[in-house]
Amino acid sequence: MVERVNRVALIGTGAVGSSYAFALLNQGVADELVMIDLNIDKSEGDAMDLNHGLAFAPSSKKIWFGDYNDCQKADIVVITAGANQKPGETRLDLLEKNTAVFQSIVESVMSSGFDGIFVVATNPVDILTYMTREFSKLPAHRVIGSGTILDTARLRYQLSEYFDVSAKNVHGYIIGEHGDSELPVWSHTTIGGQSVFDRIQDSPEKYNISDLDDIFEQVRDAAYHIIKRKGATHYGIAMGLVRLTRAILHNENAILTVSSHLDGIYGVEDIYIGVPAIVNRSGIREIIPLHLTEEENRKFLDSASILKETMKPVLK
Ligand code: 2OP
Repeated sequence: MVERVNRVALIGTGAVGSSYAFALLNQGVADELVMIDLNIDKSEGDAMDLNHGLAFAPSSKKIWFGDYNDCQKADIVVITAGANQKPGETRLDLLEKNTAVFQSIVESVMSSGFDGIFVVATNPVDILTYMTREFSKLPAHRVIGSGTILDTARLRYQLSEYFDVSAKNVHGYIIGEHGDSELPVWSHTTIGGQSVFDRIQDSPEKYNISDLDDIFEQVRDAAYHIIKRKGATHYGIAMGLVRLTRAILHNENAILTVSSHLDGIYGVEDIYIGVPAIVNRSGIREIIPLHLTEEENRKFLDSASILKETMKPVLK
């Protein structure tokens, strides 16, 4: 039997794209990685550089600099291309610029005969994931945005520091827009199976419920803090994208807070937004309908309407 070869096509080899390629190689995910970018020198140089690390990688891989024709045989096309956030600029400010870039990218990918899964990371990610679906006409479950995968990881990190436990034992989600209107689902947040509220109540000498607000602020504003210091964020999102790639290629049925197409579930219609979803080889297998509190539900609906309103100009 011939082994099935997994191919990832990466469009955009800027800071996020090249960090993703590096993490993919280090974690031994995917058999083939083709890198595509308008900046030929950059992506050709990246492919050469990464190939030189193959002798140190956990598994062999074919990595090359290619073009849109290479997307035909790709299982996943990951898009990280586009302008990124400047200091003081919100993710939504980027919308018009990046929608035009996406139209050309997605149409070129589809012209190759691509029939796999799109993973979108460029901001504003929820809207650009929606536009990728529009431009590609693929079924919604095969177009996935990185959504709040990174915000959820940031939340787990902050809580792990606060409670002094491994981030792997912290369960909780950030849902909504990947941006300023996102929200934490405290009602479903647990530390080793114990609700975050019980944990705080059990040790009032150490913990205080009001600290949760500060923790969430750190999470929500993390990108601004990093961008102010170094101009971009890329390692965290790159590792989140590798996590998502692995969930797809390894048919994991992993639950990740990705930007998923909602059509009625959570009370919103025809929108891409971050919610926990089961991800496997077919893309998004199922969306988890969390039972939110009244307040969480209201904030989620607000976040959804902000996205809907913001995307109006590019839907015309
Ligand atoms: C981040 O959250 C800027 O969306 C990017 O790091």
